[in-house]
Amino acid sequence: MPSPTDDPGFGVYVHWPFCAQKCPYCDFNSHVRFGGVDEERFLAAFLRELDHTAGLFGPQKVASIFFGGGTPSLMEAHTVGAIIDRIAHLWTVDPNAEITLEANPGSVEAQGFRGYREAGVNRVSLGVQSLRDDVLRSLGRIHTVAEAKAAIEFARATFERFSFDLIYARPGQNAAAWAPELREALKLASDHLSLYQLTIEPETPFATLHAAGKLHVPDGDVALALYDVTQELTDAAGLPAYEISNHAAPGEESRHNLVYWRTGEYAGIGPGAHGRLKLSGARHATSTERNPERWLELVERDGHGHVDSIPLTAAEATDETLLMGLRLTEGVDLDRLARQGEVRPSAAAITELTELGLVEIVPGPVGSWRLGATRKGRFVLNEIVLRLSMSFKPDKGTHSPMDFRSAAD
Ligand SMILES: C[S@@+](CC[C@H](N)C(=O)[O-])C[C@H]1O[C@@H](n2cnc3c(N)ncnc32)[C@H](O)[C@@H]1O
Ligand code: SF4
Repeated sequence: MPSPTDDPGFGVYVHWPFCAQKCPYCDFNSHVRFGGVDEERFLAAFLRELDHTAGLFGPQKVASIFFGGGTPSLMEAHTVGAIIDRIAHLWTVDPNAEITLEANPGSVEAQGFRGYREAGVNRVSLGVQSLRDDVLRSLGRIHTVAEAKAAIEFARATFERFSFDLIYARPGQNAAAWAPELREALKLASDHLSLYQLTIEPETPFATLHAAGKLHVPDGDVALALYDVTQELTDAAGLPAYEISNHAAPGEESRHNLVYWRTGEYAGIGPGAHGRLKLSGARHATSTERNPERWLELVERDGHGHVDSIPLTAAEATDETLLMGLRLTEGVDLDRLARQGEVRPSAAAITELTELGLVEIVPGPVGSWRLGATRKGRFVLNEIVLRLSMSFKPDKGTHSPMDFRSAAD
């Protein structure tokens, strides 16, 4: 992993907002269009929004490009290639840039992967979710375990790097059931794995079932036991957690996600994409129109679909640095807050949280120290950040620290 004191680098996030089917637990900005999607028209809009966004950011060296979704593996390889080419035309792409595409096992085959590789993609992230067919059905997934395993093998044969996602802490699951599935996954894995605990997102079919008492997710001791066995098995397999849900062999972390968690600058392209841009010394949170067709019309009319560019106050920027950075095992360099023009939480708040066993001092490079969340603290990050935030910001302003999410939601 690049040293935590290094510049996190500049990333470009491209959001493809369409899926073959909507999963009942998902609240990402993803839509099903049974009548098909006019991909050429969307491509033209992506390119126009890129041109506009490059003007805002000025010259940059691109460390990472990430095609997320939705289901980007529904895109034609030539669409992906044209977007990468335009990014390379507008900015300088680092020769070692990480170029990732999220793929659903149900929507890829070997030929498709080769097309993406020829277009410039060098890493895929596969949404496997489970290695049990009955679980895949209950999650509303359209692929089978056999298809997921075939996609993993295509990925291994085609790309230098790949990762896959699993969802655990599922209804009725306990550590004894999860451990053998995770062991199988670790045998199939390369050097990166994302392991997400199922969250019940508001306004999803899972939320309705949950509210009706028809869906029970593990909590309390069971959730803790699931988390512990996850850490134990991934540590033993050489893929320790470098972030709450992400595991990698040292040096194989997702560089794109590190840009978010180390609060670097990134451009968000496409419907519902978020970006972070430094303008006149202030960090700005940008976002685009979420609805794909309205976004398309905006871009065709104005050259971009941006609906917001909000300057963050120093306190809000600090909230974000803490909320993102405390997700990482490496923690946050509190001295960096001052160097970035942000504010420092009080020593009293840090002491209080340390005594509660929620945060700890972790060693940084060459004799420096950083603030990290403990195992217990990782379960209550929002509350930790709120406590730290109250210590430097009596007036909390208009944005809550919980408002900040990943590049597209
Ligand atoms: C934005 S999704 C896109 C990936 C791809 N469309 C797929 O589903 O395979 C990225 C990942 O978020 C995770 N995810 C989505 N909703 C979740 C939820 N409610 N709880 C836990 N993980 C979730 C899944 O593991 C998924 O692979
Ligand atoms: S989980 Fe993935 S495939 Fe399912 S609806 Fe969400 S983005 Fe689409």
